[in-house]
Amino acid sequence: MSQSTDLLAPVWTHLTAVQPVRGEGIYLYDADGKRYTDFTSGIGVLNTGHCHPKVVEAIQKQAGQLIFGQMNIVIPPTTVALAEALNEVTPAAIDRFFFSNSGAEAVEAAVKLAKHATGRRNVIVFQGSFHGRTAQTMAMTTSKTVYRHNYQPLPAGVFVAPYPYSYFYGWDEEETTAFCLKQLDMLLIGQSTPEETAVIVIEPVLGEGGYVPASAGFLQEIRALCDQHGILLAVDEVQSGFGRTGKFFAFEHAGIEPDIIIMAKGLGSGMPISAIASRRELMEKWQVGTHGGTYGGGNALATAAAKATIEIILEENLAENAAKMGTYLITKLRQLQKSYPVMGDVRGQGLMVGVEFTDGNGRYDKATAKAVANSCVEQGLLLLTCGSYDNVVRWIPPLIVTKEQIDEAVTIFTTALSKA
Ligand SMILES: Cc1ncc(COP(=O)(O)O)c(C=O)c1O
Repeated sequence: MSQSTDLLAPVWTHLTAVQPVRGEGIYLYDADGKRYTDFTSGIGVLNTGHCHPKVVEAIQKQAGQLIFGQMNIVIPPTTVALAEALNEVTPAAIDRFFFSNSGAEAVEAAVKLAKHATGRRNVIVFQGSFHGRTAQTMAMTTSKTVYRHNYQPLPAGVFVAPYPYSYFYGWDEEETTAFCLKQLDMLLIGQSTPEETAVIVIEPVLGEGGYVPASAGFLQEIRALCDQHGILLAVDEVQSGFGRTGKFFAFEHAGIEPDIIIMAKGLGSGMPISAIASRRELMEKWQVGTHGGTYGGGNALATAAAKATIEIILEENLAENAAKMGTYLITKLRQLQKSYPVMGDVRGQGLMVGVEFTDGNGRYDKATAKAVANSCVEQGLLLLTCGSYDNVVRWIPPLIVTKEQIDEAVTIFTTALSKA
């Protein structure tokens, strides 16, 4: 039995009208007991699956002790414990942590930190990125116009360089990397001088923009460019972090160290918590009292859940499972691609896998991508689309997923493809 949703603001988009009352592992259940296979992980939030017993236990235990301690008033021990846990999974030089509630808030915090730490004002982002829905992060988001439609003008000082999206350009990785670096160089000549540029913010794997991993070479060159000009490098790991791509953080694939790591989603297994991490000498330049918030760092349920999440990812080797299952999924999808040329590109890193749909002329085929995703949903498999042209089906199951569960999902996807 579903409840009326008339009282809810219509501004949300909804993949389904499902009203789940229970979640367990990769599954959601409605009040009638109908089961749905969740290959969205709540858009990359539930890396440990729905209601992981250890996350549930951490929240229940904490709720009986302390729910909230406001950070400007006290310092909850759970916040300190979470910083210690994050310190173990971030590069050695990164040893200071700031907490907030959402991904957008963390991106905002990263920009504010970068401005104070460098004394510079401008921000460089990449075409197709999604960084959030607040004013600053809308200005940094270029994945689709819908996110900024009728909200402009937005904060100034944001400059957009091309993302190394080889399939979009129709070039190989090397050519694409060279082109994007040349354009970035030109941006620093023509639009924002290095001396004015505080930070370059990049998603190591473009999320909402189409599930496109940046090549290691590109990320290494950006790191070198930042070092050359004293620009900070911030990686937005909101969607790609916490084991999702087969490493704890996606930037690790490129062997680089960022100056700021932006985290949210997978950090809290569903509790609203986000963080930025940086080096002490940068954090010490962030003028005391110029940033903060009522809830950030103070919600002890969220920090306890986040600490449990990190422990689960490490104890259950979820990054390794993501790497293994991701390779397995991509191999299966590439086999399928041979029979369905409408699957123009199959790509990804770990369990952040995209299938880009294109027609016979190589044009974006949103209609087929949507029809396939909708048919999967009708068959009980929740799959999202993404991409600026909305023509990419994104596979982002919880990292606990098994081969058998992937087999079942690909069977449903194959039925959907044959119908579409
Ligand atoms: C890469 C990235 N950055 C930032 C955000 C914004 O996070 P939130 O929706 O929690 O504000 C998202 C959300 O999808 C994201 O994918």
